[in-house]
Amino acid sequence: MRAMPHVVFIAPHFLQNTNRYVKAFAELPDVTLSVVSEDPEEAIPAALRARVAGHYRVPSSSDGEALTVAVRAISRGVGPVDRLAGALEELQLPMAQVRDALDLEGIRSDVAKSFRNKDRMKAVLRAHGVPVARSALARSPQELLTFVSQVGLPVIVKPQAGLGARSTYRVTSRGDLDALARKGVVPTAQRPLQIEEFVRARERTCETVTIKGEAVWRSGTRYEPSPLEVLETPWKQYCVILPREEADPELARFHAVNGAALAAMFGAAGSTAAGTALTHMEWFVREDGTALVNEVGVRPPGVQIMTLMSLAHETDFWADWAELVALDRFTPRPRRWAAGAAFFRGQGGGDRIVSVEGLDAAIEAVGDALVEVRTPKVGQPRASSYEGEGIATVRAATTADVERALLTLIRGVQVRYG
Ligand SMILES: Nc1ncnc2c1ncn2[C@@H]1O[C@H](COP(=O)(O)OP(=O)(O)OP(=O)(O)O)[C@@H](O)[C@H]1O
Ligand SMILES: [Mg+2]
Repeated sequence: MRAMPHVVFIAPHFLQNTNRYVKAFAELPDVTLSVVSEDPEEAIPAALRARVAGHYRVPSSSDGEALTVAVRAISRGVGPVDRLAGALEELQLPMAQVRDALDLEGIRSDVAKSFRNKDRMKAVLRAHGVPVARSALARSPQELLTFVSQVGLPVIVKPQAGLGARSTYRVTSRGDLDALARKGVVPTAQRPLQIEEFVRARERTCETVTIKGEAVWRSGTRYEPSPLEVLETPWKQYCVILPREEADPELARFHAVNGAALAAMFGAAGSTAAGTALTHMEWFVREDGTALVNEVGVRPPGVQIMTLMSLAHETDFWADWAELVALDRFTPRPRRWAAGAAFFRGQGGGDRIVSVEGLDAAIEAVGDALVEVRTPKVGQPRASSYEGEGIATVRAATTADVERALLTLIRGVQVRYG
């Protein structure tokens, strides 16, 4: 890589969250930054515009061919491109297609497909001895029934390339299967469905920084309760917790599995720039302590985990990620805090928030631990994702203090729809 690498960042729309990434790359002194977006060039935040060397607008940023045209144009106009980066899950495969077409460093489509496709991911992991739930790709109702007769109920049915736990169903009876069929959730050759043995366990994440395949840093969070429960109970408020203990024994026991899983996923490409990444792994820990990998994304984590990692380590993880993917550089920082996020969700019918209660009292009770609140507002429409209608982030010296603060928030705050 040259001394001043040229990075192209894919920012579909210049929204608040995306702009944090654009800013992070723009502030790297040793990088030439270009941006591809669906939004027009004028939408680049004014404060960053001077740092953007090249821009190209595409009709769709998840279209690999359109991205290839864009990156080719940028390399003609600004200079050869060294790295392609994008934070969203749906960009990973199209970006890999650009790298294939233009022979760029980084993840190519064979590896990207394994990260994107849940069936292929499980096959790769299983082939390398990484523990995962039994699973199959059903291409017909018959294949679904065959799987159910082999592993028994309950099972999980989900899309092959899922996102945000959308269209994920727990099937506990034949009646559930019939109900799904009535909803049109039926596997076909054109639209196969991922089916998995239902894992009864707690859910955790493991965020790993690798440089050319070598793990240089890890951190993990707990989902309380599990995303499935959150999905099944739309009114349930929930938390993500990043514990204070860097040597959290549960996570420490998982390190070897995480390492083996990442080695399997990156394959031979792992020792190249393709293996320089921040990965977000979701995993299950069962009552007996055994762990299973659920899935892994080769991108920054969602559900506020970037914020929590920043708070706990007194750093800006957006900047750290930009430095990592642009320059293969990462400076691990000691953990000084536990951190957590509480997600507020409305109760009742209706599609607008009609009341928010208990917020002021909860904020007062949480005191200094509170970092930020995105308050649910009366009149606001029902949220479309399980992130809910409002979020509070907290930070404290101990994990127990963070847990207490989060409980105070989710017990104290009541959001109602009407
Ligand atoms: N085999 C399984 N056993 C038990 N629960 C499961 C299983 N597979 C998925 N789930 C539940 O469904 C949730 C969503 O599944 P998964 O993570 O595979 O989909 P996703 O759409 O990629 O989700 P996200 O984008 O939110 O991470 C999981 O977090 C978990 O709660
Ligand atoms: Mg998931």
